[in-house]
Amino acid sequence: MIEVQNLSKSYSGFRAVQNLNFHVNRGEIVGFLGPNGAGKSTTMKILAGYQPPTDGQVNVAGFDVVSQSLDVRRHIGYMPENVPLYNDMRVDEFLRFRARLKNVPKAKLKERVETVKQLCSLKDVERKIIGTLSKGYRQRVGLADAMVHDPDLLILDEPTIGLDPHQIRAVRELIKDLGKKHTIILSTHILSEVEMTCNRVLIINHGRIEASDTPANLTKLVRGGGSLRLEIKAPAADAKTKLAAVPDIEEVEVTAEGEWAQLRIFSKPGADIRDNVYQLVKKEGWDLREMARERATLEEAFVELTQD
Ligand SMILES: Nc1ncnc2c1ncn2[C@@H]1O[C@H](COP(=O)(O)OP(=O)(O)O)[C@@H](O)[C@H]1O
Ligand SMILES: [Mg+2]
Repeated sequence: MIEVQNLSKSYSGFRAVQNLNFHVNRGEIVGFLGPNGAGKSTTMKILAGYQPPTDGQVNVAGFDVVSQSLDVRRHIGYMPENVPLYNDMRVDEFLRFRARLKNVPKAKLKERVETVKQLCSLKDVERKIIGTLSKGYRQRVGLADAMVHDPDLLILDEPTIGLDPHQIRAVRELIKDLGKKHTIILSTHILSEVEMTCNRVLIINHGRIEASDTPANLTKLVRGGGSLRLEIKAPAADAKTKLAAVPDIEEVEVTAEGEWAQLRIFSKPGADIRDNVYQLVKKEGWDLREMARERATLEEAFVELTQD
C-alpha cells in the first residue's frame, strides 16, 4: 500500500527527514511514534501528496506521489495535524461540500455523508456551526472529512492531540474499528496509543527510523523484555553482588535500601530467572516480601531508542 525508498526532505538546507525506507501493507495499522520535531508530519504530508520529497521514491496506493499526486489524494484520506475546517459552515454542509470537492458521485453523496456522520458519532451535531464545536467534535469532523470519499488508506496526523481522556478513548476505538476495513497510518507521541491500536510501530527520531516492529517485540528489545522486582530483608550491596553472580542475570539495580532492600533484576533475553533467584533467597536465608515480574513498557523502549 505504501512503498518508501530513500526518502529525504530538506527545508532550505535543513534535513527534516533523512533516507527513510519502509513499507506498509494493506490492512495494517502502522503507528509513527517519535518526539516533537522527529519528522512525522513532514513524512505524512509527503505520503499524502501534499508536498514533494527532496529525494527518493514514494509510492502510495499504486501511484507516485510526485508525478501522480492527484491520484494519490483521491485514493487516500488525510487528516493533517491542525485540521483545517470552515468554521462558519454547518457540519452537514461542510461534509457535503468536501465530498463534492473529492468527486464523490452525486448519487452516492448523501449516503457517504450519512455513513461518516454515523461512524464518527456526529449525528447529534450535524446541524451545528463548526466554529461552535468542542475540540473533540472538531477532530471527529476532520476524521469524517478524511473518510468521506471512502479511501482504502487513511493517513492521520496526531488524531488524538488535544482531546480529553474520554475523547481519546472514543477516537482510539473508532480507529481500531476503521482498521478492520482500512489501512491506517497514524502518528502520535502517546505511547499507550500505539500499543493499543497498532499492529506495527515505526519509531522515528531526528528524521530517521530507529526501529520498526510490533509493539510487543519492541518492548522485548529492551533488556530482555522485562525485569524482576525483589524486596528482601538483606543488606542491599551484599544482595546485589550475590544476585549478579546468578546464571542468566545480566544486571542488578538497587532501587531502595534500608531494613528491606528493593532490587530490580534484568535477565538475559528470554530467560526466566525466578527459580534461580528464589533458590538464592532460600540459601541466604533472606526474608522475602515481594517478587514480581515487570514487563518492559513501550515507553521504556521508546526512551531507550530515542535518547541521544
Ligand atoms: N515548512 C517547514 N519549514 C522549515 N522547517 C520545517 C518545516 N516543517 C517542519 N520543519 C522542521 O522539520 C523538522 C520535522 O518537523 P515535523 O515533521 O513537523 O516533526 P513532527 O511532526 O515529528 O513533530 C522540525 O525540526 C521542524 O522544525
Ligand atoms: Mg507533527
